[in-house]
Amino acid sequence: MVSLREKGLASSLGRSLLVTGGAGFIGANFVHYWLGHHPQDRVVVLDALTYAGNMASLGGCLEQDNFRFVHGDIGDQDLVETLLAEEGLDTVVNFAAESHVDRSIHGPDPFVTTNVVGTHSLLKAAKKVWLDGGSGRPHRFHHVSTDEVYGSLAPEEPSFTETSPYAPNSPYSASKAASDHLVRAYHHTYGLEVSTSNCSNNYGPYQFPEKLIPLIILNILEAKQLPIYGDGLNIRDWLYVEDHCRGIDLVLRKGRAGEVYNIGGNNEWPNIEIVRLVCALVDERLGASEPLRQRFPRSPFCLGRTAESLITFVKDRPGHDRRYAINAGKSRNELGYAPLESFETGIRKTIDWYLASEAWWRAVMNGSYRTWLEMHYAS
Ligand code: NAD
Ligand code: DAU
Repeated sequence: MVSLREKGLASSLGRSLLVTGGAGFIGANFVHYWLGHHPQDRVVVLDALTYAGNMASLGGCLEQDNFRFVHGDIGDQDLVETLLAEEGLDTVVNFAAESHVDRSIHGPDPFVTTNVVGTHSLLKAAKKVWLDGGSGRPHRFHHVSTDEVYGSLAPEEPSFTETSPYAPNSPYSASKAASDHLVRAYHHTYGLEVSTSNCSNNYGPYQFPEKLIPLIILNILEAKQLPIYGDGLNIRDWLYVEDHCRGIDLVLRKGRAGEVYNIGGNNEWPNIEIVRLVCALVDERLGASEPLRQRFPRSPFCLGRTAESLITFVKDRPGHDRRYAINAGKSRNELGYAPLESFETGIRKTIDWYLASEAWWRAVMNGSYRTWLEMHYAS
């Protein structure tokens, strides 16, 4: 077992990151990405393990010497200050958030608590340790935000740039917009070295199955309805999650403090077309594999029907934004950013990951990963 001091020594060779929300969908993908691409760096994850946080998504990291998991809240300023100071951390990457629009409509309070007040608490801790403490240590506070802060686009409107006006429409996007403004203010007022990235819809491994793509995949396997809100013609701009991680990596290494960078895949799809594509690909996989048919005997394919037969148009989401589209030109020109995954390959990889990861999603859906946590890890 390597001691904390030795770990600190190792980290002095590279960066030391505090990744908040690192047990969530994008945060966990980012931790895997970062440890894989920057093995000399140290990563400390701070996560409150809400319904969306899952230690099983960090499997493989927990045993690494340059990784530590801390179960806690970004709103706990004392805890964050202690971590920043004692671990000698020089970088915060803030993924921690309440992230689901539908939940924000039914219950906005936790969105304000975590996304606004929690982010502000993190900023205060970073300012205190990095600026007021006079350590003079180079630092970066990176805030992960969303294209939803820019509001909704009409069909003919150009995609969002970093100078598009903020016009959030849901309690979720309003809370993210508020946090973006606080991050900006801490740079302009106090000189905190911040950056913000606004990204479009992500998809890929470890996404909680309340979001459209994993929900559709798993509902097909379980022969449940595929709910399409409204007319199904709302448009989202989809990016494979690893390409988002790659974009954040570039912002951290090459991005200028005080700047905002849009990250996206130039990949707009109406919801109904995404759902039809996923239906066709899952049917194709089941058609090609007897073992899969045995594992998912209730799926429509096994009963001589198509997955599309499960599509059900339902009442629209209140205030449903019609279209998002990201212009990532600034990231491309300034940072050399370009997504590596095509949608064709990314969506197949994602479906294959869910087909291969039944233990993960069953545990996520019934909450039993918490038992797994108690059995395997004590924070
Ligand atoms: P997620 O809901 O899957 O994960 C959020 C994580 O934050 C969970 O692990 C949860 O336990 C943790 N968390 C929540 N409240 C916390 C608190 N108070 N303290 C510490 N940890 C807390 O979210 P995601 O989809 O991975 O999104 C991550 C970030 O990226 C969010 O800020 C979101 O706004 C942003 N974003 C998401 C997308 C997307 O398509 N999912 C796109 C653009 C931006
Ligand atoms: O654009 C980035 C945002 O993308 C992130 O900031 C959010 O955290 C993330 O949740 C996501 O928000 P969306 O609302 O776009 O994602 P969601 O997967 O919930 O829905 C995608 C689209 O599909 C949206 O138009 C609503 C629709 N939908 C969703 C669900 C869950 C359905 O038609 N049926 C459904 O059951």
